[in-house]
This record gives sequence, C-alpha cells and structure tokens, in this order.
Amino acid sequence: MEIQQIMKGNFSSFMQKEIFEQPESVFNTMRGRINFDNETVVLGGIKDYLSEIRRCRRLLLIACGTSYHSGIATRQLLEELTELPVMVDLASDFLDRNTPIFRDDVCFFISQSGETADTLMALRYCKQRGALIVGITNTVGSSICRESHCGVHINAGPEIGVASTKAYTSQMISLVMFSLMMSEDRISSQPRRSEIIQEFVNRGFMVLELDDTIQEISKAVFEKKSLLVLGRGYNFSTCLEGALKIKEITYMHSEGIMAGELKHGPLALVDEGMPIIMVCTRDNVFTKCMNALQQVTAREGRPIIICNKGDKEPQKFASHVLEVPKTVDCLQGILTVIPMQLLSYHIAVLRGCNVDCPRNLAKSVTVE
Ligand code: AGP
Repeated sequence: MEIQQIMKGNFSSFMQKEIFEQPESVFNTMRGRINFDNETVVLGGIKDYLSEIRRCRRLLLIACGTSYHSGIATRQLLEELTELPVMVDLASDFLDRNTPIFRDDVCFFISQSGETADTLMALRYCKQRGALIVGITNTVGSSICRESHCGVHINAGPEIGVASTKAYTSQMISLVMFSLMMSEDRISSQPRRSEIIQEFVNRGFMVLELDDTIQEISKAVFEKKSLLVLGRGYNFSTCLEGALKIKEITYMHSEGIMAGELKHGPLALVDEGMPIIMVCTRDNVFTKCMNALQQVTAREGRPIIICNKGDKEPQKFASHVLEVPKTVDCLQGILTVIPMQLLSYHIAVLRGCNVDCPRNLAKSVTVE
C-alpha cells in the first residue's frame, strides 16, 4: 500500500494520475515508430506480416469495453486507408453469434490487460479457423500477447485504475499508426497520410488545462440522475467512452448517443432538466451536429458543448463550453475524450465514490 501511495505522487488517485500522464503515454506509443522526415511508420511487431495483411479479405477488431471503443474510434480511418471492409465487434457478442471466420481474415484483439476472458476466447475461436491473429495489448507476456501471431505493444505503461484512460488513447494511436503503415505504398493516400503524421507532432494536450473548468461544471451535474452524451462521426466513440466512464466510476446513468439517431427515439428524453453533453467539432459531420444541437435547444435542452477553440457557432446554444484544440478528424477523439475522462473523475469525487476501485468491477475480467 505504501509503495502504491508513493507511485501516486501528488495525485489523489491512479485514475487522475493516468489521465494526466497521457501526453507522455501517447508519446511512448509512437516512440521509435514514426519517422517524421520521410513520413513512414514501422510497427516492428507486425512488419513481417504486412504483405499477408494487405492481401486479406477483411479486418475484424474484437474487444470489450473501452478497448472496443478504440476500435469504433479508428474504424473509419482503417476503412479509408486500407480500403478493406472493417468489422468492429464486442467479443461476447461475436462469440454468441458464432460469427463466420475465414482463413483470409485478419482479426485484431484489443486489450489493455491482455487477459480479458471474452476477448481471449474470441481469439482462440478465430485462430482455430485459420485467421491471422494480431494482438494490440498493453501487457507484455499476457495471454493475448502470447497467443497472437503478431501484434503491437501500445507501451502506455502500467494502468492501475480500474477505469481505462491512457490505454484508450494509446490503443487509438496504435490503430492509426497501423492504418498509416497499410497505406504507405498508395500514392493517392499521401496527402492524407501527411496531414495525419504532421498532426502527431502538434498534440494538443493543453486540453488538460481544462481541469479547473471541468471541476466547476461537474458541480452543476453531479447530483443529476442521468447524463446523455451526443455526437457522431469520429466523435461517436468519445460519446460511448465518456458515458462508460461516467457509469463505471460515478454510478450515474449515462448513455452515449449517435446524434443521427436522436430523432429515432432519444429526443423524447430531452427537456430543460436533462443534462446533455454534445461533442461538436469542425469535421465533415459538423453541420449535421449543429442540426442535432438545434433539435435539443428547441426542446429547452441547454447542453455542455465540447467544440474547437474559438468556434463561436455551437457555443451560442451552450450552458457551458469546453474548447479543445483543433486537430485532424481521426485524432480529434483523443482531445475530446480527455475532458470526458476528467468530468467523470470529478463527478465521482463529488459523489464520494472510490475512483480507482468502483464497486462490482475488476481491472481484468478473466471470467466469461
Ligand atoms: C474500462 O474503463 C473498463 N474497465 C473496461 O470496460 C475494460 O476496458 C474492459 O474490461 C476490457 O479490458 P481489457 O482492455 O483489459 O481487455
């Protein structure tokens, strides 16, 4: 226990420490893998399998919880840069469906611990059927690591808090790097690749400076029963992940909602008393997000808005604003999820919850 206290340093919990470690952990994920001069990426753990992966029929990303959300976060970029069909599945559901798997499938198993039972069972299922198994893990020597044909160590460093934070952003970076590696030979992808690689340099971690503002906002919502998190496109994963963090450590009901689905049901929940967070950054779905925002405000909803720095348009409708630096669409989720991690942390503290060890949960879920 004493050693754990020392490791926590000036932070009140491991989760808080791990949130603030992200500038460093994300850097460690990229370290030695990206050459910024010639704009190439080398993931040593999979480079020998690259030609086999390029020949595959489809990519499957299989995981649970937060690790699953990192698959949702990167699917669009994987589809764009690999031009392959990409399926993202929850390991438990994947097994329930007896999903057809073929020898020319490439299956990614994403897991912080590398020991999650559902993910491991899904891995064995795919391996038996002859697919290529790629592990994306944070724990060297874990079961998923050992049983994969090849893989990527995300190198985020030990994550002790039950709520996964820095592993999520490092999983995202790993999958973005994989997409870049897959598209290296395609001339038409070069401008897009270049744009992404250059943004790796300008990481907008000043987003952590929002901590005090977020602490104030959490005082306005911590006694509420429910919190909806709305967004779409690349930010949808932030909504799912933000809502999961809130449920997990604050025990408050929270739901991540695809903004495009609003009119198909969730809009009925909206009134002046329903706390809502909307993620609305300048990407290809911005106009559609603004539309959803107007739907919400027309029903007296006054959302907390996460938007790009200086973007006055969505702010007109906000009860509170969290401005995050603008970056390329596929990396924007890293900067929009951090405010959600901080918000869940502050709400949990105000509600007197044990941030690092939420009730009924374990860090590694080793039972099916
Ligand atoms: C995240 O905050 C959770 N603790 C949980 O959803 C977790 O991501 C999930 O159990 C999967 O764990 P893994 O990444 O170790 O496989």
